Amino acid sequence: MRIPARGIEKSELFSRLEAARQHDWPWREGKLFAYVFEDGPEIEEVGKKAYMAYLTENGLDPTTFPSLLQFENDIVDMARRHLGGDDRVVGNFTSGGTESIILAVKTARDWFRAKHPGVRPEMLVPITAHAAFHKAAHYLDVDAIITDVDPTSFRADPASMRAHLSDRTMLLVASACSYAHGVVDPVREIAQMAAEKGALCHVDGCMGGFLLPYFRRLGATITDFDFAVPGVTSMSMDLHKYGLCPKGASVVLYRDESLRKHQIYTCSEWTGYTMINNTIQSSKSGGPLAAAWAVLQFVGEAGYQSIAERLLDAKRRLLAGIRAVPGLSVLGEPEMSLVGFTSEEVSVFALADELKSRGWHVQAQLAHGPSRENLHMTINPGNTRWIDDFVAELPRAVEAVRAAGGGPKPPKELAALLAAQIESDPTGEGLGNVVESVVGSGGGVPGKMAEVNALLNELPRKVQEKLLVAFVGKMFTPKAQG
Ligand SMILES: Cc1ncc(COP(=O)(O)O)c(C=O)c1O
Repeated sequence: MRIPARGIEKSELFSRLEAARQHDWPWREGKLFAYVFEDGPEIEEVGKKAYMAYLTENGLDPTTFPSLLQFENDIVDMARRHLGGDDRVVGNFTSGGTESIILAVKTARDWFRAKHPGVRPEMLVPITAHAAFHKAAHYLDVDAIITDVDPTSFRADPASMRAHLSDRTMLLVASACSYAHGVVDPVREIAQMAAEKGALCHVDGCMGGFLLPYFRRLGATITDFDFAVPGVTSMSMDLHKYGLCPKGASVVLYRDESLRKHQIYTCSEWTGYTMINNTIQSSKSGGPLAAAWAVLQFVGEAGYQSIAERLLDAKRRLLAGIRAVPGLSVLGEPEMSLVGFTSEEVSVFALADELKSRGWHVQAQLAHGPSRENLHMTINPGNTRWIDDFVAELPRAVEAVRAAGGGPKPPKELAALLAAQIESDPTGEGLGNVVESVVGSGGGVPGKMAEVNALLNELPRKVQEKLLVAFVGKMFTPKAQG
């Protein structure tokens, strides 16, 4: 495509945008169990209006747009109260969980470097912690040491973390909750260990931080996980998940300013304007911030509490429904409204395709460490009206997969062949052909994923990563210029 020689009519343009959507998943129908957090048009409208009202204001300079500074301080105040923090807790609004986590790791790194110049820092990351910690390690050149989780509960194993403590340990990570299994790590033990070692402890509440306090108020037993726990030094919490704010909304919080100061980046080494960045982005739209501020004010504690009530009830019905299906089992005991379930009798990848053909979108998760390949469901408020229908459909979908032979068997020989081929191609030049042989030459995502997932599931992780890089490279390449 070229920039058109002359601009296109507005009406034509917007109808093209709408038309472009026709192959996207129709999330408003409420059968997509990932990616989207919504509870109908009213909250959506508030978020959109506030977003548009501040779309053009630039968070780069809070002295020019003091309203943005006020919104950010208000949001941080709401967040720290929600998470058991006192007036010393400070933080910032970020674009999402990954940015919050990268900033928390950068802060830990610079705090550690100031105390231990010349020592290469490490962080202890349970195998179930979000991939964003690995991304942070990769970007920031610190080492991530993977620690074990209990193979049944999938909660981080403090003994494994203890075994890896060293003079290089800067940070211990705990999740509240983990994405894959929706469980909360034993934060008290982990934070205490960090404090005894003189290290920091980050609790990743990107997924659970907002909702879990409401679940607790509803009487659910929730592991202690927030600033009320001694030794917790930083937390991340996404507002664009269970806060139902438009995307681009998260907070990162620190116990006090002596830590947060390591997050802030300033630069006086150039000829331009005074550069002070709290976050990774520099110029940034005021839209997500204003929208988050407005949605939090609009829904309010009572609104979130009643949404949480529906989610808690939906989770209980979903867990009971899955457990009632012969051949299926739930991984761990999720405290959150996120569920992973598996099967030793049928291919979960074939089951995902079968459910998709029946109008339900669940997410395939590959086997890793003690976690078998499984299907993941994040219940969002918009899903709660469908839980009984899903639970009724699930055994029928399992039976259909069984009747069709149970789905693809693990393609061990093909995987070994492919792994050898990829490993013997250090330049990666032949990878494009391999990608085509696996997913076809269309360049897009294949409709049926069972075979692809079954193959990925058998590949060594490093080989898998190489293949995914080549796949994404192919996907994000415009068609040849005409
Ligand atoms: C526990 C946890 N941490 C971090 C993230 C990363 O959040 P984001 O996708 O907003 O970057 C997620 C996303 O699902 C998550 O579940």
